[in-house]
Amino acid sequence: MSESENAIYDVVGVGFGPSNLSLAIALEEQRTDCPENGISSLFLERQAAFGWHRNMLLPSTTMQISFLKDLATFRNPTSSFSFISFLHASGRLLQFVNNQDFFPTRKEFHQYLDWAQARVAHRVSYGSQVRSIRLAPDAAPERPVLELEVADTGGRGSRTVLARNVVISTGLVPSMPEGVSRDERVWHSSEFLEKYRTMNPRELRRVAVAGAGQSAAEIVRFLYDELPHAQVHAIVPAYGYPISDDSPFANQVFNPEAVDDYYFGSDRTRDTFWRYHRNTNYSVVDEDVIKALYQRWYDDEIQGVKRLEFINLTRVAGVKRVGAETRVSLQEGPGAEIRELNVDALVCATGYAAMNPSSLLGDLDRLCLRDDSGRYRMERDYRIATTPELGCGIYLQGGTEHSHGLASSLLSNIALRSGEIIDSIVARRTEQDAQGPVLAEFGG
Ligand code: FDA
Ligand code: NAP
Repeated sequence: MSESENAIYDVVGVGFGPSNLSLAIALEEQRTDCPENGISSLFLERQAAFGWHRNMLLPSTTMQISFLKDLATFRNPTSSFSFISFLHASGRLLQFVNNQDFFPTRKEFHQYLDWAQARVAHRVSYGSQVRSIRLAPDAAPERPVLELEVADTGGRGSRTVLARNVVISTGLVPSMPEGVSRDERVWHSSEFLEKYRTMNPRELRRVAVAGAGQSAAEIVRFLYDELPHAQVHAIVPAYGYPISDDSPFANQVFNPEAVDDYYFGSDRTRDTFWRYHRNTNYSVVDEDVIKALYQRWYDDEIQGVKRLEFINLTRVAGVKRVGAETRVSLQEGPGAEIRELNVDALVCATGYAAMNPSSLLGDLDRLCLRDDSGRYRMERDYRIATTPELGCGIYLQGGTEHSHGLASSLLSNIALRSGEIIDSIVARRTEQDAQGPVLAEFGG
């Protein structure tokens, strides 16, 4: 990686998942197509190497978007970073087409992401966790600079990195049932494979999975298949797994125009999006996984076996450790009697909270404007609206569901969104250059 000391990057990306990878690709393509607008950049990622939800790379799991909604195609249909280019480079294009499926496995999509990141790896510093972002004390007030404090996750100390703009894309935050903490027998789905692999599978005789979303259903299927000797309890808050709506009309909520309809719409418009279309993504499961689970349960019924139990209309209300046993408290509804279930491991596939950059921003957060509900006021170009003294751009990829709608935490729009962010950075730089001399050197 070519990180240079004392450089002031035009843009520093915090986190290097698919969103900022897509941004790095857009910058790479801009460097070739439009060198006069060249933007210097650096991406900081806390993981030691690229990885996208590795702990959920379960066998047979598939993508929830079409392969055409890749890192680049919607911004540049002729991009050499498209999924089709990846297939071509891997010698699998024809085989993929013959498979007649829009939804690759998550493992294959991970290979694609890895292939793409390797081509822009010169822009990335892995093993680099951003701890805080503040205004650099020595910068000229008329041309402020952001200073990022970066810890080396390999334990080799910390350093600072300087930027005119940051694009924060640190991803979703795992959410546990209230009062339940993770430990060696109580896991969140985001750490599933890592924790599962620490166990001797023979010792897992009774396992439970809480949740009625895609993660829960995929993990239940995995445990049922991997642990033929085990009892699997699915703790489902609904009356069975609700189906994800990925029908063509509903899918339009992920179209780029829907971002405008949401952003420029009234509060009522935004409410309507959520009321009718939350079931395109949250607390829902793809039909093929629902059918696969039902088939397993029914095949057992025929044989009089009760290995897969669905505990419907029920939530996890707490967890107690009693000796080696994990005792899960189950509740059918508020005020209902609590019953207990003893298991060898509990997986909480209980979802995620949205990305929230406020702890990274520290004191800088005071310069960020909030709406009446206390959420960041966002510009259409994904920049947090700030007071005038903060001339630097703080862009968000994620954490903007309140302003930009349902696709904010998803992959559907990342190619276009990355293009829009770069256009914004270039336009604002041109505007600032027109207002005063450019400071080429820090403190210069
Ligand atoms: P993502 O979470 O991928 O990346 C954030 C990165 O930031 C991570 O690599 C993290 O290590 C890093 N980071 C965090 N804090 C940092 C710090 N302080 N300093 C440096 N680095 C830091 N969506 C969809 O549209 N289709 C799909 O098929 C799926 N599939 C899917 C499967 C599973 C199991 C989950 C949990 C989610 C999905 N999603 C999805 C939704 C998911 O949010 C989306 O696929 C992307 O992960 C979003 O990419 P980001 O880059 O925004 O976040
Ligand atoms: P999710 O959709 O938010 O589902 C969380 C589930 O946990 C909900 O059913 C929720 O019920 C339930 N829950 C919360 N608290 C609970 C409790 N105390 N007891 C029992 N259940 C509880 O989360 P997810 O399934 O992790 O999905 C998150 C995102 O990742 C989605 O975008 C999804 O599409 C994506 N994903 C994709 C794939 C894939 O591509 N193959 C795989 C996994 C996930 P309530 O709604 O009633 O609170």
